[in-house]
Amino acid sequence: MRAVLVEAGRVGESTRFPSVLLLEPPKSEVRAFTDGALISRRAQAVLLDTATGAAAEAVVDLVAGALVDWRELAPGTGQPAVLFEEYDRSADLVRADPRWQAALRRRGVEDFSLAFVAPLSPGFFDHPEERGRRVLRALTFLRDHVEDSPWAHPVEGLLAKVDLISGEVISVVDEGDVPVPHEHGNFDAEHVGPARTTLKPIEITQPDGVSFTVEGNEVTWENWRFRVGFNAREGLTLHRVEFAENSGEHRPVINRASMAEMVVPYGDPAPWRYWISYFDAGEYLLGKNANSLKLGCDCLGVIHYFDAVVADDHSNPVTIPQAICMHEEDYGILWKHTNILTGATEVRRSRRLVVSFFATIGNYDYGFFWYFYLDGTIQLEAKATGIVFCGSAEPGTVSPYAAEIAPGLMAPVHQHLFCARLDMEVAGERNTVDEVDVVGIPIGPDNPYGNAFTTTVTPLTRESQAQRLADPARGRSWLIRNEDSRNRLGKPRAYQLVPNPGPTLLAQPEATVATRAAFATKHLWVTRHDDAERFPAGDYPNQNPGNDGLAVWTRADRELTEEDLVLWHVFGPTHVPRPEDWPVMPVDYSGFMLRPHGFCDRNPALDLPDGTASRAHCPPGQCACNH
Ligand code: NI
Repeated sequence: MRAVLVEAGRVGESTRFPSVLLLEPPKSEVRAFTDGALISRRAQAVLLDTATGAAAEAVVDLVAGALVDWRELAPGTGQPAVLFEEYDRSADLVRADPRWQAALRRRGVEDFSLAFVAPLSPGFFDHPEERGRRVLRALTFLRDHVEDSPWAHPVEGLLAKVDLISGEVISVVDEGDVPVPHEHGNFDAEHVGPARTTLKPIEITQPDGVSFTVEGNEVTWENWRFRVGFNAREGLTLHRVEFAENSGEHRPVINRASMAEMVVPYGDPAPWRYWISYFDAGEYLLGKNANSLKLGCDCLGVIHYFDAVVADDHSNPVTIPQAICMHEEDYGILWKHTNILTGATEVRRSRRLVVSFFATIGNYDYGFFWYFYLDGTIQLEAKATGIVFCGSAEPGTVSPYAAEIAPGLMAPVHQHLFCARLDMEVAGERNTVDEVDVVGIPIGPDNPYGNAFTTTVTPLTRESQAQRLADPARGRSWLIRNEDSRNRLGKPRAYQLVPNPGPTLLAQPEATVATRAAFATKHLWVTRHDDAERFPAGDYPNQNPGNDGLAVWTRADRELTEEDLVLWHVFGPTHVPRPEDWPVMPVDYSGFMLRPHGFCDRNPALDLPDGTASRAHCPPGQCACNH
């Protein structure tokens, strides 16, 4: 990639690469793919001239080694993602600024080397001094020593704004006269004291190895088959996910699935915090920030790792060793029945295949875990953990917008709204989505006793109509069905998207974040597949005024019946922080399920062996329950 662009004379001394991503090959090629066949490989690089701020998109044909497309980015369409080197650059600029130095001195800080200047994407507010500029905002945190966790010592009321191209510190706001909290927030063994000794070991052994096979990036496990991919922006991607019923033919379920975007808007109106709304995928790149699980994975059992390759700021390849973890987990009972007439019991254990990665973006750590179950269910679980982002106030302060979670440490309310992109292919290419509610029936001639309830099924036929909220009181779910493929009951094969709904975006419709993160105002969007529509807030959410993404694309109001469809599903926690979230937050889980719903002819896990294998380790006569 880099070599082709150098050859083409497009890479100068000050050129950097905020993003380098493979482009998906056309679906016709993907569907026709057989091992060994050549598939077209193209990649898109975003180039930023850090001397002038000019940005461009290049498309390179990697097979031909040729630059095939070049497009300058127009002003006002958003900035490319934040470069790693800009973390240091913004901090260095702020540290050198006399106004910032004066603000720290005023607070009694003379040693600036221990101050951590956090590089934060600025949102978009069309402030005149930011127009046309590539900007980061910086909040400051102190450390008592180099290993000290900075997040425990926020410098309240101090905000610097940096122009990354000119190197100018545009402004320094210094409005806080609040002491910096001094209690440390470290949680390593040295700081929390001796670990408890009461937990006896649990050992997971797989004496005969794993039940999956991996060939290249293709995984086969029980009735599942899929391919694993990875890119700098979304991290883990799944491709050609297929399920076979009773060892029959594999039928497609999903063409491609990914964590395409997320937004973390904060609910505090303070002048130094109102703008916080990080798009961690599009502004910081989840995959580029992925953990190498060599350094800590802690999954139990026999683990298979995949390495990932991303591009650095110079478009040189960087391998992240063991970025993706895959293993099997026992998951309790899958199905069971005791015959009350004979006392005979049939019970089978559930097991799931876990494919996951973790990314660390500043204070937060996000794990994205895809689970495949023996009954055809797919689940995505997002794990939010790490350190809650705090400001400070006089101890005992009560605020409507923040909770005191340690003395003087105020954690603002905020949301983590994830958007999964699910390029569905349920039993074939042409799908239709139905919204299914469960509703009671008014008392009347058909329902004289008032007990009746039923389901209502509403096809989502156009994009303008396919922008939906979940409704837990109606058990709302969405069915993705295929009229061309029928089960033994003559019904279309289908998968059901089961949401786990929480609040959507709580910012007001007039707030700029509501336009920029319009995707987060609904739990579900359905669109007609288009190769160019990859990211729900658009390709450049950084400083984007809100002129790209789902709300813009769906103005075309494309017809959705029996078409190639993409589902965009929004979910995630709304955080009102607790003392228990400090100094490191226990995992907060969110996610959704995709369940077969007439995709199979019957329970596809009848042929599981009974629990003999799992009982083998129990002392004779002491374990008959299989739990
Ligand atoms: Ni949070």
